[in-house]
Amino acid sequence: MQWQTCLVVPIFLLYILSPTHWFYLYSSTKTQQKRKMAKSAGEENQQKAFGCAATDNSGILSPFNFSRRENGDDDVTLKILYCGVCHSDLHTLRNEWGFTFYPVVPGHEISGVATKVGKNVTKFNIGDRVGVGVLVGSCKTCECCEQDLENYCPRIIFTYNSYNPDGTKIMVRYVLRFPDNLPLDAGAPLLCAGITVYSPMKYYGMTEAGKHLGVAGLGGLGHIAVKIGKAFGLKVTVISSSPQKESEAINRLGADSFLVSNDPAKMKSAIGTMDYIIDTVSAVHPLLPLLSLLKVNGKLVTVGLPNKPLELPVFPLVMGRKLIGGSDVGGMKETQEMLDFCAKHNITADIELIRIEEINTAMERLAKSDVRYRFVIDVANSLSQ
Ligand SMILES: *[C@@H]1O[C@H](CO)[C@@H](O)[C@H](O)[C@H]1NC(C)=O
Ligand SMILES: *[C@@H]1O[C@H](CO)[C@@H](O)[C@H](O)[C@H]1NC(C)=O
Ligand SMILES: *[C@@H]1O[C@H](CO)[C@@H](O)[C@H](O)[C@H]1NC(C)=O
Ligand SMILES: [Zn+2]
Ligand SMILES: [Zn+2]
Repeated sequence: MQWQTCLVVPIFLLYILSPTHWFYLYSSTKTQQKRKMAKSAGEENQQKAFGCAATDNSGILSPFNFSRRENGDDDVTLKILYCGVCHSDLHTLRNEWGFTFYPVVPGHEISGVATKVGKNVTKFNIGDRVGVGVLVGSCKTCECCEQDLENYCPRIIFTYNSYNPDGTKIMVRYVLRFPDNLPLDAGAPLLCAGITVYSPMKYYGMTEAGKHLGVAGLGGLGHIAVKIGKAFGLKVTVISSSPQKESEAINRLGADSFLVSNDPAKMKSAIGTMDYIIDTVSAVHPLLPLLSLLKVNGKLVTVGLPNKPLELPVFPLVMGRKLIGGSDVGGMKETQEMLDFCAKHNITADIELIRIEEINTAMERLAKSDVRYRFVIDVANSLSQ
């Protein structure tokens, strides 16, 4: 099971650490072989890394020393400063999707500063503010990769719980530039939560100013969908089962209205009023009430990942020429475009900054959706304590 230890895909850097993870950008080598060599032949080709790993489906994170390959010609090594905590991290830690390889060092909303750049790298310099999101590798030759859709590559390498099968170069292709006015802490969650809602809005044509967008679920993804929807000039309604979130949805996040999903009278009065819905709910839930909110030709895109199938109500789809779609993060080019868009519109996540020591408590709270709206680990300050 040697390759499992590599799941911690990335490469990364010296004393960096993160809470949930670190990263990497790697170069062209066989990670497993490197690891093996490192054990027998010393550490000269390795960089030390430190993170927090879970070793079983209790999902409890504890300190973990590991090593990554030394920076290659096409690599960028970064010092991790912040890392957002995504619901996918929790699903993976607890093996809720059934494909976790332990030990796993989670985290895929990573921001920091480049500390090493390979000699082939022209796009980044040491000291640049950079980010790493959900993926760190892909084949670069398939139809998806050629269309800047690395996120749908059949040979995608995720930032964690994935492994580098052989010779894959990671390279600068998977490193993102943080615009100057985008903060590294509140900007980090954009690397997963931001692109997850931005990409389907662009792809499915859900950006026409004046149209009405419903955002189902007001958590990490939903609160950013509200902000991005407003930046596109949409009318935005939050659809949530938590009536206590109404005032902040409207007053703090800028939504135009709020619909309590388990209030039948309100749901009924909103039937047929929406052009688009982004469904961020990751628990099993009925689609029929949401589909009913759509106008004829309306589009519902689901980005949450419930661990059981949802029932598909065919009648309203057919009778209203409605569409249901899915979407998973975005390619590197579009992710950079999203960061630039958010910087231009001053969009960041609303975060609760925590230290790494607080990560297990934070995970408990996340499991109960008790976070406004994203935990971000302050890696540098955690280390210095
Ligand atoms: C990690 O390595 C450092 C330095 O060698 C050591 O002080 C620390 O105790 C190690 N931590 C764990 C969890 O192994
Ligand atoms: C990167 O560097 C390696 C080793 O110096 C070289 O063989 C390779 O051609 C370079 N790749 C590019 C894209 O320049
Ligand atoms: C973003 O914030 C800056 C600085 O506070 C401000 O000058 C600018 O007008 C804002 N832009 C938008 C689109 O709100
Ligand atoms: Zn995520
Ligand atoms: Zn590919």
